[in-house]
Amino acid sequence: PRSVRHGHDGDLMFGGLPLSQLAARFGTPAYLLDEAEVRRRCQEYRRALHEVEIAYAGKSMTCRGVLRWIAEEGLSLDVCSAGELAVARSIGFPAERILLHGNAKTPEDLKAAIGYGVGRVVLDSLDEIEQLGALARYPQQVLVRVTPGVDGHTHKAIATGVEDQKFGFSLASGAAEEAVRRVLAQPSLKLVGLHCHIGSQVSRVTSFEEAARRMVGLMARLHAEHGLVLPQLDLGGGHAVPYLPGDPDFDLAGFAQRIRCAVNYECAAHRIPVPRLTIEPGRSVVAPAGVTLYRVVTVKRGPSRTFVAVDGGMSDNPRPSLYSARYAVRLVGRRAAKGMRAVTVVGRHCEAGDVLAQDVPLPEDVHAGDLLAVPCTGAYHHSLASNYNMVGRPPVVSVCDGVARLLVRRETEEDLLARDLG
Ligand code: LLP
Repeated sequence: PRSVRHGHDGDLMFGGLPLSQLAARFGTPAYLLDEAEVRRRCQEYRRALHEVEIAYAGKSMTCRGVLRWIAEEGLSLDVCSAGELAVARSIGFPAERILLHGNAKTPEDLKAAIGYGVGRVVLDSLDEIEQLGALARYPQQVLVRVTPGVDGHTHKAIATGVEDQKFGFSLASGAAEEAVRRVLAQPSLKLVGLHCHIGSQVSRVTSFEEAARRMVGLMARLHAEHGLVLPQLDLGGGHAVPYLPGDPDFDLAGFAQRIRCAVNYECAAHRIPVPRLTIEPGRSVVAPAGVTLYRVVTVKRGPSRTFVAVDGGMSDNPRPSLYSARYAVRLVGRRAAKGMRAVTVVGRHCEAGDVLAQDVPLPEDVHAGDLLAVPCTGAYHHSLASNYNMVGRPPVVSVCDGVARLLVRRETEEDLLARDLG
């Protein structure tokens, strides 16, 4: 990943600073984010898809600092709770550029969205259509979330395009058309388009292309049967990132070209106007711009393998246990005196499954006190972190052109005790 580079003295550099210096200043474990890399990625999306609305998926990483960069780069924002919306609101993120998602939005979520005047709500259930209809004032713009029946070939916990799961209205069963009818019957709601999200960490561009085709097919049916012209089509997020060296990069240029062709072709074939497209990338905007720093607490050489235990683990990165995710691990701050050997990097939590990386090469002389860096941790790490074992969550530090800034401070024992009223 691009954000980590070799320095002159064997140290690894991040955003223009040595990683060992960042560890000394901010402690470990710590999440680091390369601001310039996040901004560069936003710009890359806007360039490759200049006519498409790019809505950053806030669930991948939300804090005020990051949302400011997203707002400044001209992206829109997908939030999925009143909490994410509160962060966006606190920095004045333009309400008309916000979309609210969720399969079970609570009355608080819906009221917060209406209160801030969010541009669009993405409807995900019949109950929600009634609930929002009763709360909203015309013209609350909405999209209907459709499950297009496309397999994104990703981990089943993050595959959302196939039938028979909790998200969206199924296309095949006719539920999507029924949802559209119900929305049209709500005087306060203005239907502006359809939405789908086939999954996350999807690398096959053809899966997105197939979803786009099916969605335009549905738009054409709605046009033919109800005379409906929908100006927007949101194709969701899910672009894969390379976690390990050698993993392929997502083919953004190929995606842009194929999506454009598929949508234009299908629209022409069905004689309907081409909708404005939206996409919702989260992971691919921030993951490769992040690194997590850990310190080795102990090295245990067992009969069949060596365990390198660090001062974090599944509370700051549950992805290996949730999705069998794999990571690279690199020694920081000193040159290795010996050769490499495969080790298992484990966390500090009271579970045998608290493994960060299995069979990764590290120098044979790795020892307590060493610093380790795990690249590609900018997405779904800070946002998925927990306080398991009453461990405070790590800080988030942004680094840009040699200047480091604390975006989120480390959680303290006082923080952990503050909600516990005895
Ligand atoms: N839009 C919608 C409606 C979504 O549900 C998601 C992700 C996205 C966009 C952004 O997808 P992305 O571009 O980030 O792949 N915790 C899991 C990922 C869960 C994704 C949930 N929805 C992980 O760590 O892999």
